[in-house]
Amino acid sequence: MKKILVMASGNGSNFEAIVEYFRNKDVLIELLCNIEGANVISRAKRLGIKYFIVKFTDTYKFLKDKKYDLYVLAGYMRILPRNVLALGRFINIHPSLLPEFRGLNAIKRAYNSGCKVTGVTVHYVEEEVDTGEIIAARKCEIEQGMALCELEGKIHQIEHNMYPKIIEEIL
Ligand code: GRF
Repeated sequence: MKKILVMASGNGSNFEAIVEYFRNKDVLIELLCNIEGANVISRAKRLGIKYFIVKFTDTYKFLKDKKYDLYVLAGYMRILPRNVLALGRFINIHPSLLPEFRGLNAIKRAYNSGCKVTGVTVHYVEEEVDTGEIIAARKCEIEQGMALCELEGKIHQIEHNMYPKIIEEIL
């Protein structure tokens, strides 16, 4: 059985999409969250997923004696240091077509830029933010007159569809 660790800090909609996708498949999912009280923890409880709340500075100490086939960042809002990244394969999902709109508020910045197309990128994690080899990218059109919240909804839909499948392929 393959074992993956989803790492998240916030809402957790991608975490939930991953859990749903792998239901009845031979993959064990656990969650690491660095923020006490984050919504993703309520999702883990509801979904019956084992979770660990580990503050960022304790990440290496916590992970060093554990083994996962893949570390899946899904809204994990900290930059992981080299010793953590050396423990295995880490992937991340980012709501833009990298290398455009790296960093925070990528959807909003794409929306405000007036560009017609943005998207979602899944990539391997390196020390620098939102760099690392690109594994897959999907485009998303910004339609005329579209509200920011509509674009956000569309981007998240794409994320929830693509991320679990990519994880499965990598495994
Ligand atoms: C997603 O948009 C993801 O691309 C970014 O953080 C967001 C996490 O959303 N890295 P959620 O917590 O999975 O709902």
